[in-house]
Amino acid sequence: MPLEDVRLIDLPKIADPRGNLTFIEGHRHIPFDIQRVYYLYDVPGGAERGGHAHKALHQLIIAMSGSFDVVLNDGKDQKRIHLNRSYVGLYVCPMIWRELDNFSSGSVCMVLASNVYDESDYYRDYTEFLKDIPTT
Ligand code: TYD
Repeated sequence: MPLEDVRLIDLPKIADPRGNLTFIEGHRHIPFDIQRVYYLYDVPGGAERGGHAHKALHQLIIAMSGSFDVVLNDGKDQKRIHLNRSYVGLYVCPMIWRELDNFSSGSVCMVLASNVYDESDYYRDYTEFLKDIPTT
C-alpha cells in the first residue's frame, strides 16, 4: 500500500550555539536522487496547495519555517500529518494524492523532487487518479 511507504524522515542536525545545520544527501538520507528543489512561500491564510498526485515522482516535503499540514490519500486510506520542524522531512512516494493546508503565517514549504517538472507526471483529477489505483 503506498500510504504505508509514506514516512517522516529525521534528518541530520548539527546543533551549534551559532545556529543549527541540517543537510540532505540523495540516496543517503532520502531514497532518491534530487533533481529539483522548489518552495512555497507567502502563502495567504486559509489557502490550500497541492490537490494532485504524481505517477512516478518521489518527494521530500519540509517545513523550513513555520508549519502546515499535508493530507495524504492513496485512494483507500487517508492521513493528515503536521510538519513544523526544519530537520524532519515527509517522504511521499508516487501515487499519493496530497493536499497542503493550515499554513502558518510566514511559513515556507520546501520540496525536494526526484525529477524535473513534468506536467505529464501529474494526476490533477482525483477520479482519473482513482482509476489507476489497483483494486486488490
Ligand atoms: P503545482 O504543482 O500545481 O503547485 P502546488 O501543488 O504546490 O499547489 O504548480 C503550480 C504551477 O507552477 C503550475 O502551473 C506548474 C508550475 N510549476 C512549475 O513550472 N515548476 C515546478 O517545479 C512546479 C512544482 C510547478
